[in-house]
Amino acid sequence: MKELIIIIDFGSQYSQLIARRVREYNVYCEIYPPNITAEKIKKLSPQGIIFSGGPSSLTQKHAPRCDKAIFKLEIPILGICYGMQLIAHHFKGTVGKSSAREYGKTELYIDTSKQLFSGLGKKIITWMSHEDKVKKLPKDFLALAHTCNSKIASFAHKKRPIFGLQFHPEVVHTPKGKIILKNFLFKVCGAKGLWTMQSFIKESISQIREKVQDDSVVLGLSGGVDSSVGAVLLHKALGKRLHCIFVNNGLLRSQEAEKVKNTFKKHYRMNFHYVNAEKLFLKQLKGVTDPEKKRKIIGKLFIHVFETEAKKLKNIKYLAQGTLYPDVIESQSVFGGPSAVIKSHHNVGGLPKKMQLKLIEPLRFLFKDEVRLLGKALRVPEAIINRHPFPGPGLAIRILGSITKERLDVLRQADKRFIEELKNAGLYNKVWQALSVLLPVKSVGVMGDERTYENTIALRAVTSVDGMTADWAKLPMKVLETVSNRIINEVKGVNRVVYDISSKPPATIEWE
Ligand code: XMP
Repeated sequence: MKELIIIIDFGSQYSQLIARRVREYNVYCEIYPPNITAEKIKKLSPQGIIFSGGPSSLTQKHAPRCDKAIFKLEIPILGICYGMQLIAHHFKGTVGKSSAREYGKTELYIDTSKQLFSGLGKKIITWMSHEDKVKKLPKDFLALAHTCNSKIASFAHKKRPIFGLQFHPEVVHTPKGKIILKNFLFKVCGAKGLWTMQSFIKESISQIREKVQDDSVVLGLSGGVDSSVGAVLLHKALGKRLHCIFVNNGLLRSQEAEKVKNTFKKHYRMNFHYVNAEKLFLKQLKGVTDPEKKRKIIGKLFIHVFETEAKKLKNIKYLAQGTLYPDVIESQSVFGGPSAVIKSHHNVGGLPKKMQLKLIEPLRFLFKDEVRLLGKALRVPEAIINRHPFPGPGLAIRILGSITKERLDVLRQADKRFIEELKNAGLYNKVWQALSVLLPVKSVGVMGDERTYENTIALRAVTSVDGMTADWAKLPMKVLETVSNRIINEVKGVNRVVYDISSKPPATIEWE
């Protein structure tokens, strides 16, 4: 039996979190926009449907609704916050503005502890964030729980498996929320928790083989988590019919190209095509100081080099890309993505069209942390799975001002020492990303009796969940001291090291 839960996203900032919570119970789920039809849902035949919360108010004319026929499908439904109000509205209850808005931690008194609330006792802490509430129960519904402000903080249909929660069970501030979701999945929907990384690997391999048939696939391998895990999965399915192209753009960190080559060519024995394009990249970047110009040049050149190399290969019909689920959700969302582009990220989206290749995206249904789990299940080396994110334009956006081979070497040597010392102190896996930046600033120093006039290196380490916001890492002084000593003593051309103590926002993680 294939298990599936569908989450209908009404614009909540927590929709992806709901999905991750569901998957933590080994139940596979997918997120869809509110315009998904009952017919499509019927075809997908899920065991349950979750309506997310959302910022809209049902008192507004244009508030998102769903296909009414969904309520006739006889599939269990759980509505969260706005989702609960939508259920109430559909079954002709009353939804309106609450006299007291509930926001934050709220005590919930459980009146009926069967099914959804089973095993939870009489009172739990929940996280509320709403202005509207269900004021009058629809016919055939009963209240399951209340708060000081809401008589109906949760409800259920008397005969059918339809439930509503005014609070958010998916956030950590509802500490027992996971149990409520678990009760819905296992007690109400009858899920068994069949989705594991092993089952994902098995299914993916057969899907890849069926799709690709006797053709071959080309993949741009950077050595980062996504492309590496994707490569190992595709290699398991296709063997030598997977071709990996690794472009050394001269903007990589110390020993990076060798490490990637060793892992994929020697260890995995993949068809690995190494292209040394260092000179080409550095030539085109000469004298360029504007960060966005750097990105554009690098992105364009990458496509050119990759395409030229791929054309030498035979039978290639597919281009593999490491698209992840958040990108898929974003592209299908009716609510639009993040508004302003602050930095144009390295974009290889132009490749498939240009090369007339079909796309294969083996990770398109996974979240980032699931890619790591997949990597572990595939026995991808720890060093790759836990590697910090590294931007496509590489060190080019960590050298402020123009890029030369000499400046790249200075940065590489400094960064190598920073990362080494973080690893020595057991801190590498505790920070989300750590990096060094070469500033276009020289300052006076003294070494022995000599006056020096040399470069400045800025160290940056941040903690973060997804890179969207970040806090500067409070690294121990002792570690900073060691790093600074090592860089100044061992790296020629540096006489000053500073530590970046800005958070994002308002700063960004990279300096360019
Ligand atoms: P910022 O600097 O925007 O970085 O706070 C957030 C995350 O994105 C990475 N980053 C990039 N990745 N191409 C990439 O592939 C880029 O142009 C780029 N710029 C930033 C950055 O390393 C961090 O993980």
